[in-house]
Amino acid sequence: MTVLAGQVAILSGGLGDIGQACAVELARRGADVAVGDLWFDDRVKRLRDEVEGLGRRFRFDEADVTDEKQVADWLDSVNETLGTVTLGICNAAIVEPLDFTRLTADVWRRHLDVNLTGAFLLANGVARRLVEQKKPGRIVFLGSWAAEHVHKHIPAYCVSKAGVRMLCRSMALEYSRNDILVNEVAPGIVNAGLSRQLLEEDVELQSEMIRNIPTGRIMTASDVARLVAWLCGPENNHMTGAVLQGDGGISLVSAAERHTPELNAGIVKNTPTL
Ligand SMILES: NC(=O)c1ccc[n+]([C@@H]2O[C@H](COP(=O)([O-])OP(=O)(O)OC[C@H]3O[C@@H](n4cnc5c(N)ncnc54)[C@H](O)[C@@H]3O)[C@@H](O)[C@H]2O)c1
Repeated sequence: MTVLAGQVAILSGGLGDIGQACAVELARRGADVAVGDLWFDDRVKRLRDEVEGLGRRFRFDEADVTDEKQVADWLDSVNETLGTVTLGICNAAIVEPLDFTRLTADVWRRHLDVNLTGAFLLANGVARRLVEQKKPGRIVFLGSWAAEHVHKHIPAYCVSKAGVRMLCRSMALEYSRNDILVNEVAPGIVNAGLSRQLLEEDVELQSEMIRNIPTGRIMTASDVARLVAWLCGPENNHMTGAVLQGDGGISLVSAAERHTPELNAGIVKNTPTL
């Protein structure tokens, strides 16, 4: 399948589980892929081998999304080496479980800095360069069902993802006449990142989560990546400012039904990235 042939994708936090799955899925559909993350490690070689094995070009840069200059330099050098970035995937995020009684201003700021400002810097950097070059493009934010659903133990994360949702809608409106479609994928609980670690460590927590998800299964990073890739592809030629709520229906379950005492106990112990 080469529906994305000729496209160049840039992905922040691309060494994380969902980031890697997105890189591979976009490459599988024909895009060249530039991945950034905070540091270089052996995941880069594995990802490069996989992407290049699919016949696509791959590039890795150390890029902290909170640093405006680093993001701008990263974008400029990808534009010079791989060609104009046409697909921007804002994926980098952090979660540090601290409820309001323990949350510090530093932790609060860190969430907004990485999850919201980082997403703004990358997305707007991609969009402005596309406008300058009069080219169409797509931007996808990795949001979360937590944008609209309160989770007591991770308020800073929830607020940052609520901000991403409005960022997405605002940018979608701004750039709609430039043929730049801006959307969000909002996963539920994914077997990825910190959640994966916790699910693997705590079988009880895992069964509790499965009981809470209406479709009865925890989604995978590849499930998320397919939604991201679909938003980037030609089948989406008109939708902008939308949320693809890919969460197995968990956002349909009320908090009262969802948060059983057992699950709450698990979350206090170990909070997954939601
Ligand atoms: N795992 C889940 O259950 C879940 C659910 C809903 C939404 N999400 C969202 O999906 C996205 C990916 O999550 P994941 O589960 O793959 O997590 P992950 O921790 O595996 O990946 C996040 C990546 O972001 C990178 N990162 C952190 N700070 C950065 C910075 N300042 N600059 C650049 N990179 C930085 C990390 O190094 C990491 O590689 C996130 O936006 C997350 O909020 C995840």
